[in-house]
Amino acid sequence: MTAGSGTGAGGTPPPGTSPSPDGSAATVTRTGDAPGGPGASAGGREGALILVADDVPANVELLFDQLHTLGYRTISARDGPSAVAAAARHQPDLCILDVSMPAGDLGCDDRSTGFEVCRHIKRDPRTARIPVVFVTALNDASDRVKAIEAGGDDFLTKPHNRLVLGARVRSLLKLKGATDALEESVRKLRELEKVRDDLLKMIVHDLKTPLTSVLATLELLLDGDFGPVSHTQHQVIADAETKAEDLLRLIEDLLEIAKLEETALPLTLVPIAPVALLTEVVYEWAVRFQQAGATATIDASDDAPVFQADKGLLKRVFGNLIQNALTHSPHAVTIRLAVRGEPMGVLFTVADDGPGIPSEYQELIFRKFEQVRTPNAPRVRSSGLGLAFCRLVIERHGGRIWVKSTEGTGSAFHVLLPAQPRTADYPAISP
Ligand SMILES: Nc1ncnc2c1ncn2[C@@H]1O[C@H](COP(=O)(O)OP(=O)(O)O)[C@@H](O)[C@H]1O
Ligand SMILES: [Mg+2]
Repeated sequence: MTAGSGTGAGGTPPPGTSPSPDGSAATVTRTGDAPGGPGASAGGREGALILVADDVPANVELLFDQLHTLGYRTISARDGPSAVAAAARHQPDLCILDVSMPAGDLGCDDRSTGFEVCRHIKRDPRTARIPVVFVTALNDASDRVKAIEAGGDDFLTKPHNRLVLGARVRSLLKLKGATDALEESVRKLRELEKVRDDLLKMIVHDLKTPLTSVLATLELLLDGDFGPVSHTQHQVIADAETKAEDLLRLIEDLLEIAKLEETALPLTLVPIAPVALLTEVVYEWAVRFQQAGATATIDASDDAPVFQADKGLLKRVFGNLIQNALTHSPHAVTIRLAVRGEPMGVLFTVADDGPGIPSEYQELIFRKFEQVRTPNAPRVRSSGLGLAFCRLVIERHGGRIWVKSTEGTGSAFHVLLPAQPRTADYPAISP
């Protein structure tokens, strides 16, 4: 639908405009200025560039006059393809589109060209954030619905009011400014995150070599290779060795998490019998259970199937969950290890009767460095990496890990694993 003295796509541009250098129907201008590109004037509200797409020069002229009075720069297009091209090329801050224009090669009805142009603008990542206003005699609801479906941000009904035009343009430009600033912050944050991760990886890697040699030296000392050591000296060195080993484990966790995040850690898949796995884990932790005064039970259902997974990594997942149950409780805990079959594979549970985890932390704790910070959480030396490691390992197997917990009652960590991870990536190997 067009108004004014229509001359169609071939019509002469309004006064004060000039054809764009690429020969397209788009033109750039600003009242009082020589015609120039969008870079000709500074950014901000004053310099905002607005694309007006309408095949009727009189309509364009009217809008240009009003927009120039408001201090904006303008660019025009007279048909669908040139509007799409102008938006991509000049990346205006706002588009004002007529609905009815020659469709050219856009392959739509001339009466809905504006919607198609809007769809193109919103599909292209370079222009997707540009707000689009339809200026047309939109008096039927179905056209408004189509405009919204096409991604339009606002409407101006012909004949439009100058003050309404100004208010809409200002508010949409403000919104775009805020969205652009937000996007820029997200981009910078991502960049910083990458720098931090790379730096951390480098430092951690550089720590490993000297620490390994410290450990070797402590071991030689303990073995008496540098002469006899007294009982007290032995205790002190053994303590230093334990702490150095803790540190090495932390370093290895950090490096492994980095590898898992980059999906560079290959899985070695082997068939695993769930009950045998839990029995093995409990056996390996028996001394620690005894030291902590904890009890562990295994509750296995017959339907738990043999499944394919990386056994070494999986045992470390259970090790982390058991260690958490032991260390994050102020009293000796009872741990229940359970397994049962599920349609997609096998479901493990590691449950304890410890202090529980506040609901607002139940997702957070699976992120790196996140720990429960409440006054009643016991103070233990920890890194906040264990559950991040568990989540990466389980998700790498195509599984899921989550926690159900009630404060004061205990926590139950559930691990759901597919019977067979996607083998295209990791061919299963025989035991
Ligand atoms: N079984 C549990 N009972 C209570 N709190 C837990 C339990 N497991 C984990 N948490 C909480 O989740 C946090 C994150 O655990 P984790 O990622 O293993 O790191 P870390 O154990 O090094 O602190 C812990 O610091 C603790 O606050
Ligand atoms: Mg832990």
